[in-house]
Amino acid sequence: MWKTLSYVYLITFYFWMNPPFSLANKNEENCELRQTNSNTSAECNFEEHDHRLVCFHGLEDKWKTGGENVRTLVICYWPMTTFDPQDVLQGFSTLKKLTIKNGNLTKLTSPFSNESRSIEKLEVTGTKLKELPENVFINLSNLKTLNFRNNSLSEIDVETFNIPSLHHVYLFGNPLKCTENMKWILNGEKDSLGHKIADKEHLRCTVPYDGRALIPVVEIINTLKEECTKTVCECELVYVLGNGGKHIQKQLMAFASVNCSHRGLTEMPNFLPANTTTLYLIGNKIQDLKPLTTNPVYRRVEDLYLDDNIIESIVQLEGSSWVDRFRLLSLRGNKLTDLPTYALQNVLQHNGNAVRLYLGKNPWRCDCLFTPGFQELLIRYTSLIKDINDVRCSATSGDDISDRIVKDLRRTEICVSSDENSVIHPLDILNIILAILIFLIIGKLLYDYWSFKKTGKLPWIVAKIP
Ligand SMILES: *[C@@H]1O[C@H](CO)[C@@H](O)[C@H](O)[C@H]1NC(C)=O
Ligand SMILES: *[C@@H]1O[C@H](CO)[C@@H](O)[C@H](O)[C@H]1NC(C)=O
Ligand SMILES: *[C@@H]1O[C@H](CO)[C@@H](O)[C@H](O)[C@H]1NC(C)=O
Ligand SMILES: *[C@@H]1O[C@H](CO)[C@@H](O)[C@H](O)[C@H]1NC(C)=O
Ligand SMILES: *[C@@H]1O[C@H](CO)[C@@H](O)[C@H](O)[C@H]1NC(C)=O
Ligand SMILES: *[C@@H]1O[C@H](CO)[C@@H](O)[C@H](O)[C@H]1NC(C)=O
Ligand SMILES: *[C@@H]1O[C@H](CO)[C@@H](O)[C@H](O)[C@H]1NC(C)=O
Repeated sequence: MWKTLSYVYLITFYFWMNPPFSLANKNEENCELRQTNSNTSAECNFEEHDHRLVCFHGLEDKWKTGGENVRTLVICYWPMTTFDPQDVLQGFSTLKKLTIKNGNLTKLTSPFSNESRSIEKLEVTGTKLKELPENVFINLSNLKTLNFRNNSLSEIDVETFNIPSLHHVYLFGNPLKCTENMKWILNGEKDSLGHKIADKEHLRCTVPYDGRALIPVVEIINTLKEECTKTVCECELVYVLGNGGKHIQKQLMAFASVNCSHRGLTEMPNFLPANTTTLYLIGNKIQDLKPLTTNPVYRRVEDLYLDDNIIESIVQLEGSSWVDRFRLLSLRGNKLTDLPTYALQNVLQHNGNAVRLYLGKNPWRCDCLFTPGFQELLIRYTSLIKDINDVRCSATSGDDISDRIVKDLRRTEICVSSDENSVIHPLDILNIILAILIFLIIGKLLYDYWSFKKTGKLPWIVAKIP
């Protein structure tokens, strides 16, 4: 019992100290020993007992032909940007392991030839390698391990890499592009290249998903593309949120952009890929915004472009949770004549997310009832309403205000129209009559008082009252 436990501990301890990932490091050749030597002409060292030749800054001439005893060839700081395996390796007919390490190598210029077929392990690490010829490994029929870590490879051609004898491929430290082209890496079938990538859990994407774990990002891209085929739209993963730490898979958040512009849609799509955060619906014939409030596929949509549709009203959005969250809403070029200004003002006050609202190129109604409140909204949220100078009265609003910028209208221009000026209001007439009556009564009172003083006669009405 205790014995078993202690084995378990021992094994755990072993893997803790030496995680399987680093097992590949064990036989890695070290170039650092000579790095300080500033002599940059080629220099080689042959260790007879283990048939090992280590060269710095290139190959000395004598090894160009006499390499038949060499089993391991290590080349540190290859001095050129190209390396021609057919030429350089001519003399090494029994080579089992080839290492090219550090330096400015960017390109292998030829496939390995038949004569190099004894190579079992090929390492090119810490160089700037980014270009390989097609079928570069095809004649390396004994190749088992390929270590291409810390180079500049951005794409992997499956055909070139997946030769049958290969077991392990290491690609860590390359600026791999996470696109649909990397889909092969998800294939876990035996004999597939995806299965042979030994360090795939450690791979990272380069821009635009810089530093994100490659596998989950490629999975997300793959799902997105599959879901996209169920729509008439184009889909793109624009951003993945998550830090570069070790255990990040679960924390990744995807942001997808879906473009359904100019598709002749008469209503908002009822299916969208999960994680759609930006949606373009420009130039369709959409009138109804109801799905935004009822269909859960819109839950994560934050940026919505609805330019050039035939929307007449956004009253439906009132009270929906979508308006409380949106970041960008573009309603340019629709048929809006008015808005529930009070409700919208309320929404914008509570939506801490909103950064852009476009309302231009709509036939806005300009009258005393709607416009003052609308103006207040426009002025209060000037920084949010990005096209405020395109928010104009409809062309049919009357001669002097048609096409005017709503924000700049004066109240007297909307609220006092010219015909109200000339016609006297009925209430005004009443007021005038009442004023005249008051003057008449005061006049009569003064007359009666004067008449009483002078003649002592009471006014007729006083005399009549009992
Ligand atoms: C560099 O190495 C070569 C060959 O080993 C030698 O002939 C030469 O003198 C060295 N130069 C310097 C500056 O050390
Ligand atoms: C690689 O290039 C850098 C700069 O371009 C240069 O300083 C360095 O000496 C080069 N290394 C080799 C091994 O040629
Ligand atoms: C690979 O080997 C075949 C014959 O086995 C030969 O025809 C072909 O030229 C070789 N390819 C390269 C790149 O050396
Ligand atoms: C390549 O190697 C195989 C196996 O040794 C041999 O049969 C064949 O003739 C070689 N082909 C060439 C073009 O060297
Ligand atoms: C790759 O680079 C990283 C850091 O840049 C380093 O820790 C690691 O040892 C390198 N691996 C190889 C195989 O060169
Ligand atoms: C959506 O994002 C979550 C993580 O935020 C991810 O697990 C899921 O696979 C994504 N779905 C699609 C279809 O991209
Ligand atoms: C959306 O697709 C249309 C063509 O269908 C294209 O003209 C437009 O530029 C695309 N918009 C974006 C933001 O990708």
